[in-house]
Amino acid sequence: MKFFLDTADVAEIADLASAGMVDGVTTNPSLVAKTGRDLFELLAEIAGLVPGPISAEVTATEQEAMLREAHRLAEIAKNICIKLPLTWDGLRACRRLAAEGVKVNLTLCFSPGQALLAAKAGATFVSPFVGRLDDAGHEGMELIEDICTIYGNYPDTIRTEVLVASIRSVGHVIEAARLGADVATMPAKVMRALAQHPLTDKGLAQFLADWEKTGQRIV
Ligand code: E4P
Repeated sequence: MKFFLDTADVAEIADLASAGMVDGVTTNPSLVAKTGRDLFELLAEIAGLVPGPISAEVTATEQEAMLREAHRLAEIAKNICIKLPLTWDGLRACRRLAAEGVKVNLTLCFSPGQALLAAKAGATFVSPFVGRLDDAGHEGMELIEDICTIYGNYPDTIRTEVLVASIRSVGHVIEAARLGADVATMPAKVMRALAQHPLTDKGLAQFLADWEKTGQRIV
């Protein structure tokens, strides 16, 4: 499973990328706004830190305007992936960008029908939002299960990867992997939490205390 960071925080991206754990990054207008930085400078910096796909989202809502923004964003770096909302305009723009060889991430997916359309439009990624579905009283992971099952029925024709988004917890990541999703995009704190276990901390403290008593050193 590929791990993407869902953040525009350059310090967090640099830190976790240096551990070799970041396969890509997803940003959105809210995450960029939080940084207070210039969009183009920010995306160029992120694209230089992580060689994998960096999702950059358009803010236009009409097909032709989306395409103009997409072309401008794609000029930033070779690894920019254009993020479009899962609307009819987004689907039309996706088809045209895919035909040009531009990678597209269709975002704000909340139903299996939308995911089917994303695949037909030639999206590289579809982003179902599990946390927001949970917040609305639904079971976000059921959508992931549905999409993985549906896409799995057409292995020869569907190439779109399931990118699980709006992840809130380690449990979301594990469940997404269990269901066979291709990618999980997560906040830095969730990626860090994947390594944490109280028994690891307890076991390490015990090993170090016992070793200390021997008075030996390895180097
Ligand atoms: C995905 O690409 C989005 O940026 C993201 O996962 C949204 O998550 P949120 O629901 O935590 O804002």
